Amino acid sequence: MINVFQPSLGLEELDAISEVFKSNWLGKGSKTNQFEQAFAHHLHVPPERIISTNCCTEGMFHAIEILGIGPGDEVILPTISFVGAGNAIAASGAKPVFCDVDPRTLNATAHTIEKEITPRTKAAILIHYGGYPCDVDGIVELLRNHGIFLIEDSACSVASQKAGRACGTFGDIGVWSFDAMKILVTGDGGMIYVKNPDLRMKFEQNTYLGLMNKSGINNTVDSKWWEFDISSFGRRSIMNDISSTIGLVQLKRLDSFIAARKKVHEKYNEMLSGLDWLVLPPQLENGSLSSYYFYWIQLSSTEIRDRLASYLRDHDIYTTFRYFPLHLVKRYGSTVSLPYAESAANHTLCLPIHQSLSDDDIQTIVSRIKAFSESKP
Ligand SMILES: Cc1ncc(COP(=O)(O)O)c(C=O)c1O
Repeated sequence: MINVFQPSLGLEELDAISEVFKSNWLGKGSKTNQFEQAFAHHLHVPPERIISTNCCTEGMFHAIEILGIGPGDEVILPTISFVGAGNAIAASGAKPVFCDVDPRTLNATAHTIEKEITPRTKAAILIHYGGYPCDVDGIVELLRNHGIFLIEDSACSVASQKAGRACGTFGDIGVWSFDAMKILVTGDGGMIYVKNPDLRMKFEQNTYLGLMNKSGINNTVDSKWWEFDISSFGRRSIMNDISSTIGLVQLKRLDSFIAARKKVHEKYNEMLSGLDWLVLPPQLENGSLSSYYFYWIQLSSTEIRDRLASYLRDHDIYTTFRYFPLHLVKRYGSTVSLPYAESAANHTLCLPIHQSLSDDDIQTIVSRIKAFSESKP
């Protein structure tokens, strides 16, 4: 089976883990501090603005809580979002307000967001679909004019940039994921960017049981270091040194991962360009860098999209569509209709893309797509 996503982990990561085992300190410690600093360096932001967490979903739950969002508030998010974003909003008692997307990039735009703003709008959670940066300039300006917080779910965009600035650092809070399906993988893990230094302290405490003093080796209290106080009824949402040491190795390899993904993207573009029954992903705008997290094609009908997905799966090629529109998930109780997102969800297919996809794999996938096109009625 050719996987749609796949991590690249090897001996270097194993060696790093073995060093952590030898150190006898597996919890949140020096490796986690180093990973936070290295990630800040990667984003070109001061280290004080970065804090790790155990996953991106937890980062979004904490973000909503720390911004004081709750019952009576509304938070706008593109309906094509990860379910954890919708859950973080709904679990707080606030209302998730789903907005439409651009039909080609599948990103929210300033226009689709503006339509949903009301006096109750407190924040917006945006994603950069498949690593393709959204129109952050227009969106940031719109939200600033209305005094609305911006949270960027940057799980797809670990290396994406717009005008030299890292996606995830345009708003008040940014969150990244290092789960098993991402580009930079630590098993599970996540990072949070916080613009306001006072809020960073809150993240630090809320992600660690609300504790106001550091525990273990990080504790610098002279005596009775076992006494403590808490600032909130915080959860325990931290990274540990095993995941962080993997993260440090993966971060060193990130440029090569992105280069490999870009090559896959370009090869698909070149090899599929003659097929007039499918549409290739949109071109990147000048000044934007993608993480090439998804490679998505769009078909002329749902029927063809679904048959192509089944045909490829029957031939050991796994494809998918991300992300099923949240306004269609019954539990959220939404009754809106968002035509562009619905159309995109009915016509889009994400093909395999990862840094270990070989030229032979790409050739196999493209040949199968061509064979499907010849067999299609
Ligand atoms: C866009 C997006 N946001 C958030 C997440 C959640 O990340 P995590 O698994 O680290 O909670 C995912 C995971 O697939 C995702 O794709």
